[in-house]
Amino acid sequence: MDKNIVIAGMQFGDEGKGKIVDFLSEDAEIVVRYNGGDNAGHTICAENQIYKLHLIPSGAILGKELVIGNGCVVNPKILINEINFFEKNRKKINLYLSGRAHIIMPYHIALDGMEEKARMNKIGTTKRGIGPCYMDKAERTCAVRVYDLVDEKLLMKKIKQNVYSKALVLELDNAEEYANDIFKEYKGYGELLKKYVCDTSRYLNEKMKENKKILFEGAQGCFLDVDFGTYPFTTSSNTISSALFCGCGIFPKSIEVRGIAKAYMTRVGEGYFPTELFDETKNHFLNIGKEFGTTTGRPRRCGWLDLPLLKRAIMLNAADDIVLTKLDVLAGLKKIKVCTHYEIDSKKVDMFPDNPMDLKKAKPIYHELDGFENVDFGRIKKRKDLPLNAKKYVDFIEKEIGIPIKIISIGPGRNETILC
Ligand code: GDP
Ligand code: IMO
Ligand code: MG
Repeated sequence: MDKNIVIAGMQFGDEGKGKIVDFLSEDAEIVVRYNGGDNAGHTICAENQIYKLHLIPSGAILGKELVIGNGCVVNPKILINEINFFEKNRKKINLYLSGRAHIIMPYHIALDGMEEKARMNKIGTTKRGIGPCYMDKAERTCAVRVYDLVDEKLLMKKIKQNVYSKALVLELDNAEEYANDIFKEYKGYGELLKKYVCDTSRYLNEKMKENKKILFEGAQGCFLDVDFGTYPFTTSSNTISSALFCGCGIFPKSIEVRGIAKAYMTRVGEGYFPTELFDETKNHFLNIGKEFGTTTGRPRRCGWLDLPLLKRAIMLNAADDIVLTKLDVLAGLKKIKVCTHYEIDSKKVDMFPDNPMDLKKAKPIYHELDGFENVDFGRIKKRKDLPLNAKKYVDFIEKEIGIPIKIISIGPGRNETILC
C-alpha cells in the first residue's frame, strides 16, 4: 500500500466493503470510518469466524488502530457491544472516537420508526435512528455529541431540552421520567467510552504527516448518498469518497480511490433499481449470494450489473480503479446480462441520469455473455486462471468502464481474493 486508500461503495451498499477493508488492512496502520452509523453492516469471514460489524472499522480483526470520525453517528450501546465482543475474544481495541461525532439517542430510534410508518412513500430505513440523528445535527440546538455524552452536566441539559421539545410527537406520558431513564443509561455509556474520545482530526492530520498508512472505510454506497443518490430513497449522509474529508477532518490530498462493486447488483429498502429482476435469476443471486441484509436480515433486491450506474459512480467518486466482488456467485448461470445503456424517450443513454424523472423512464439495454461453470474458486489465485467466460466477463466490464479492475473477490473468505 503506497498511498492512503478509500474503499467506496459504487452501488447501493453491501458491495463487500468489510471483506476488502479487512483484506487491505494488513498493509495499513490505521482504519477509519467517516460516515453513517450502525445502519452499516460489514461482514468479514476470517480466522474461522464471521464478524458482522456495524460501527467498529473492519481493521479491528487485524488489530489496527481504529478511528470513528466526526461524520459518523454513534449508537453507544452498539459500539460498546462491539468493543466487548473483541475484548472477550482477546483482541485489543485501539479506538480513537471523535468528540464531534453525533450520538443516536433512543428518541431518534423511536422517531425513525414513527416517521417511516407515517410516510406515504416508504424509504425502507434500517430503523436505527440515523435520519432523525442527522436531522438534529443539522438543527443544531438539539444534537447530542460524543463530547456531551461524556460530560454529565451537558448530557442532562441536552436530554431534557430534547425530550421536552419532542414530547408531543413521541406521545410521552411522563417526559421527566423518560428523560431521567435515558440520562441514567447514557451516563453509563459515557463513562465506558470516555477513554476513547479525542480530537481525531488532529490525530489523523499528524499521522498523515508522518506518512502512516491509512485506510478509509466507506459505509453505504454511492446511490444512497443524500446529495447524489436516488433521493429521497437514500440515507441521510454523504457516502461518496469525498465525504471522507469532512467526515474525519483531513486535507483533500493524494488519496487513492478504490471503488467497490458487486459483479451483479443488490439493494435493500425502496427506490429506483432499473436492472432489478423478479425471476429465477433473482433467486439464484439471493440464495447463492446469501443476499440477506447484515443489519436488518431483509432479503435484498437483486438484479444485473448496471454499467451506466457504475460509470456515474466512478465519476462521482473519482475512482482510480475497481474491486469487483462476488464474481463466484454468477457461476452456474447459462447466460449473464450486463446493462450497457438505457433507453430514455427513445434515446440511447450511457450514463445513469441525474434527474429522477428520466430515471423513472429508463429501460435497460443489455449485452449478453455466456455463463461459466462452478469451479473450486478458493484455489484460484490469478486472474488468468479464472474460468474462460468469467475472465471474458471481467475483461468486458473493464473495457466498458475505462478504469482497471484491480482486485477480484471470488468468495467471502479473506484468502478468496485475486490481486490483478
Ligand atoms: P458491505 O456492507 O459492503 O461490507 O457488505 P456486506 O458485508 O453487507 O455484504 C456482503 C456479503 O457478501 C457478506 O456476507 C460477505 O461475506 C459476502 N462476500 C463478500 N465478498 C464475497 C465474494 O466475493 N463472494 C461471495 N460469495 N461472498 C462475498
Ligand atoms: P453498508 O455499509 C445497504 C439503506 C436502507 C434504506 C436507506 C435509508 O452495509 O453498505 P437509513 O437507515 O440509512 O436511514 O436507511 O438506506 N441502507 C443501506 N443499504 N447497505 C447499507 O450499509 C445501508 N445503510 C443504509 O436499507 O433503504
Ligand atoms: Mg452491508
